[in-house]
Amino acid sequence: MWSNSKNGWGRISIGVHWLSALTVFGLFALGWWMTGLGYYDAWYKMAPWWHKSIGIVLLALSLFRVAWRVLQPTPAAHGSSRKRLAAHLGHGLIYLTLFVVMVSGYLISTAEGEGISVFGLFAVPALVTGLPHQAVIAGDIHWYAAWSLVVLAVGHGLAALKHHFVDRTDTLTRMLTTRPSRRH
Ligand code: HEM
Ligand code: HEM
Repeated sequence: MWSNSKNGWGRISIGVHWLSALTVFGLFALGWWMTGLGYYDAWYKMAPWWHKSIGIVLLALSLFRVAWRVLQPTPAAHGSSRKRLAAHLGHGLIYLTLFVVMVSGYLISTAEGEGISVFGLFAVPALVTGLPHQAVIAGDIHWYAAWSLVVLAVGHGLAALKHHFVDRTDTLTRMLTTRPSRRH
């Protein structure tokens, strides 16, 4: 139920997947909106505070997710061995891009040596600071990687819909529920 099996994803994997999907799209919209705010806007300071706090929580969640993924069995992928390899590489690329976005966000925020306050509860220390043009370069990487992640995620979502409606496999339903499906 909570853990994965050879036949399906468990509640933990399903919950983390959808929570992180929601958070990725939310942070993208928030990041885009907040960088257009003027200095006198009421959200000028608060929006980045939320963006960074939520971003650090997503980073922690994603580290847990990868550990869980490595420790748990996974349901078998469908299709020919070439398609399975493509899906595997695609998911790997999503994970990689996700971490590039989060690490570059961390490096923008800590460029001047300041830690990152997480909801005012604790601060993540600035471990890497003062690299040449750190904030600007990390900022450029963050922007392009965030875009790549969103494009990959939308393509990935469309692929899931294709598996559901065209190929009629249980790929999407097993990411939504732990109940066994009649489809295979
Ligand atoms: C647009 C909405 C989305 C839909 C409909 C969707 C659907 C799915 C489905 C059905 C699977 C299971 C594939 C299988 O069982 O082989 C899956 C896996 C996965 N999804 Fe999504 N997804 C969405 C958004 C996202 C986003 C935003 C991310 C990025 C954080 C993401 C990252 C992943 C990863 C990395 C896997 C592979 C899991 C693993 O093998 O560890 N998905 N997704
Ligand atoms: C998947 C997670 C994330 C997504 C999709 C995302 C997305 C974005 C986007 C679209 C922007 C606007 C960039 C621009 O207009 O140049 C932005 C800005 C920013 N993000 Fe993120 N972000 C994520 C995670 C993080 C994390 C974890 C941190 C730090 C802890 C962070 C820190 C920042 C900062 C400081 C800015 C402002 C950069 C500037 O002023 O140019 N982000 N983010």
